[in-house]
Amino acid sequence: MTAQLSKKSEAWSARFSEPVSDLVKRYTASVFFDKRLAEADIQGSLAHAEMLAHQGIISAQDHADIQRGMAQIKAEIADGKFEWLLDLEDVHLNIEKRLTELVGDAGKRLHTGRSRNDQVATDIRLYMRGAIDDIGGLLRELRVALLDLAEQHAATILPGFTHMQVAQPITFGHHMLAYVEMFGRDAERMADCRKRVNRLPLGSAALAGTTFPIDRARVAKTLGFDDVCRNSLDAVSDRDFAIEFCAAAALVMTHISRMSEELVIWMSPRVGFIDIADRFCTGSSIMPQKKNPDVPELARGKTGRVNGHLIGLLTLMKGQPLAYNKDNQEDKEPLFDTVDTVVDTLRIFADMARGITVKPDAMRAAALQGYATATDLADYLVKKGLPFRDAHEAVAHAVRACEGRGCDLTDLSLDELRAFSTLIEADVFNVLTLEGSVAARNHIGGTAPEQVRAAIAHVRAQLG
Ligand code: ARG
Repeated sequence: MTAQLSKKSEAWSARFSEPVSDLVKRYTASVFFDKRLAEADIQGSLAHAEMLAHQGIISAQDHADIQRGMAQIKAEIADGKFEWLLDLEDVHLNIEKRLTELVGDAGKRLHTGRSRNDQVATDIRLYMRGAIDDIGGLLRELRVALLDLAEQHAATILPGFTHMQVAQPITFGHHMLAYVEMFGRDAERMADCRKRVNRLPLGSAALAGTTFPIDRARVAKTLGFDDVCRNSLDAVSDRDFAIEFCAAAALVMTHISRMSEELVIWMSPRVGFIDIADRFCTGSSIMPQKKNPDVPELARGKTGRVNGHLIGLLTLMKGQPLAYNKDNQEDKEPLFDTVDTVVDTLRIFADMARGITVKPDAMRAAALQGYATATDLADYLVKKGLPFRDAHEAVAHAVRACEGRGCDLTDLSLDELRAFSTLIEADVFNVLTLEGSVAARNHIGGTAPEQVRAAIAHVRAQLG
């Protein structure tokens, strides 16, 4: 206890007359989660020290000592030998304290011209930049896996649904390409968010800037930031870039969740459109026959927690007066959990997409039920001169008659069909087939196999 307190008073100088209680220490400490920022923290400190030395604010010797100390700290962290102390509150103070232990006064000079407020904002941005790049790569992998699946099934027919009712026949490749589009926009959103993440807060110090002759542009260049944040109060306090990231992440998960919902339905034995490789499923502890699509179900569930983090961060920010407030320490756990959840989910889904077995017979059988080509018959009549509303009405009568008899439109003879419109001729059977129906939707964005193949080529060219 005494040792802990003496460490604390070393960290905080002589300003305080009594130590904080153990409970308060635990309550205010962030080291157990923000130690994840260690690499970014060291990177930021090294860039800061280099600039301080270049500007003559610290000596070349101090700079060399800091570099040496940081190299050792990095190694200690990598080897799991670094001792993280709750008394030292957060990742920043832990590293700085160890540096001072290792190199003496040079370690104490590192914090010249900066504050933990601009330091932590810099660390988060560096960390997030890496996470965004990882997520961009994973979105790409998932899209490539879905493109491959789409290519294999460019002409495989299944029913398309609206309101969960059979609507029109579509190709499975086309269906997969819908997700390729969604994840493509997600990648664009991530890349866009990265632009605003990639600006340097360091140099803002606690809130007002610093009296030292610093060179912020130099630090920005060393750390690969596109620009410096242009207002010190804003730079240390706003976390809108993290909120934006969480919004983009929530959309990634929303798309994953929609896809999951479909995979679960498709894998249900009642539907039987697909099978998912065993390594993504589990059995039941009581029902030996079961094979459950756990991964898609869990991903659907985890979407809720990512959405929750977005709301959490928005709420964290909304009541804060300028500039930095300790509230902001609460940004990290939701942010880290969002990154972990999205990264793990995308990694698993890219792999799982390659573990999907499509069952074309079951898909085809389902497309043959539910009058999926009724619209094609209406369009056929329109092309023969009937106004669309009248064509719609004529086909509705035909469907109703089929329902009464328990048959499909294609089961009716030409004479029977002509009872609904005398415009119907023998060529009608070309449009009533599933193949004829999908092939006819032959324009950009349509479901025809030819268009599916063109769309795949288009995305592949974009991906380079
Ligand atoms: N651990 C703090 C955080 O995560 C670092 C900044 C603390 N600054 C301060 N003035 N208390 O935000």
